[in-house]
Amino acid sequence: MEKANLVEAAQTVLQLNEREGFTIPAEGLYPHQWLWDSCFIAIGLRHYDTKRAQQEILSLLRGQWANGMLPHMMLDSGILHRQDREIWRSYVSPNAPDKIATSGITQPPMLAEAVVQVGKKLSRIERHTWYRRVFTSLVAYHEWLYAERDPHQEGLTLQIHPWETGLDNNPAWVSELREHQMPTWIRLIGKLHLDRLFTFMRRDTRFVPPGQRLTTLDALAFYSVQHRLRRKQYDIRRVLNHSLFAIEDLAFNCIFIRANKHLRHIAKTIGEDLPKPLIDNMAKTENALDQLWDAYSAQYYSRNFVTHNLIKTTTIATLLPLYAGCISKERAKRLVELLHSTMQYGPKYPVPSVAISSEWFSEHRYWQGPTWLNTNWLVVQGLKHYGYHEEAEKIISSSLKLVEQSGFSEYFSPLDGSPAGAKNFSWTAALTIDFLKTQP
Ligand code: GLC
Repeated sequence: MEKANLVEAAQTVLQLNEREGFTIPAEGLYPHQWLWDSCFIAIGLRHYDTKRAQQEILSLLRGQWANGMLPHMMLDSGILHRQDREIWRSYVSPNAPDKIATSGITQPPMLAEAVVQVGKKLSRIERHTWYRRVFTSLVAYHEWLYAERDPHQEGLTLQIHPWETGLDNNPAWVSELREHQMPTWIRLIGKLHLDRLFTFMRRDTRFVPPGQRLTTLDALAFYSVQHRLRRKQYDIRRVLNHSLFAIEDLAFNCIFIRANKHLRHIAKTIGEDLPKPLIDNMAKTENALDQLWDAYSAQYYSRNFVTHNLIKTTTIATLLPLYAGCISKERAKRLVELLHSTMQYGPKYPVPSVAISSEWFSEHRYWQGPTWLNTNWLVVQGLKHYGYHEEAEKIISSSLKLVEQSGFSEYFSPLDGSPAGAKNFSWTAALTIDFLKTQP
């Protein structure tokens, strides 16, 4: 397909998924507004409609909690989705907003990146106004991440549900989930092979074949974690009490490090001072990333917050310190080696969400093997930062090939490029536009 046609087709998808003031990820499966989705969507929209890109971000801020948290979902108020609002019941927390129902957890802090990327497309005066408009909310969000998610002030933030990582059922989290958060009733269902009965109750598998989603037992465990958080009214002190299930997620913290840099840039541009404790915390996070490095396997991993054990399961997160941009050139070189290896992260259609040689690898099961355009975008930014332009171009062209061949699917097999998950997926469309418009 011609470049211009591909851009046009991608814009049509974003048009199709547009709702009042924001864009849903995909019809049917994802009927609400998601936090990091809207950030990626804004990065695409900025190339042809800066107003709508700004609106996409502002509409996320409708959901901000009084304590600063940005929830990972802003729920549609339509009659059809009453069930989702009942699942979350954000009103159990005194911090939740009155005017809109939301989830009670967050997602990777991509907001500052999206704000800056949109800012690049504005005139100097417009950019200043734009930055000023979002500055207080952004600061409150980053302060909340430190206040609630770094209780020992060690620099790394913790996450309390796999959905907070955006890489939902990635093996590092699923292995911890199976170990620490699998209630007896779910184990029993597994032992008695009753999971098939529960499969009928799932909404996701009505839209996507079960083999492309998480297993029913894992899905039940996800819901049991969510249920526990709701019971604790999303109060972090109560949530952390007696729980071994809190993880300092590698991908989340890498994205946070880059977001902190963007926030410093925004503050400087508009001549505002960031609070001193926030500046100190930001510096701590960059240094703390080193604690997630395992010298033996020469890779970064997520870490269990309570036991302080690294979760030595390799996933796409392993490459995201490139995006964080605060690691040494030697470490960056080592990560690029992983991208060059066909059995690791360099198959025909990179970058797989799990290394090809991993026992977890499954080409179509989401976050356990497939290639996604959003993580490709993050890896590309990281590669460019460290001067690996050829490698970055290779990922951009294979990403474009995927969508040319199979349309704007949610994810793709890294082996043969076959599409999987939802169709007409918004961030796939948005980031296709960004890849095309930022190519030399
Ligand atoms: C899936 C993805 C998550 C995304 C959501 C909406 O749950 O794992 O990252 O935000 O869909 O698209």
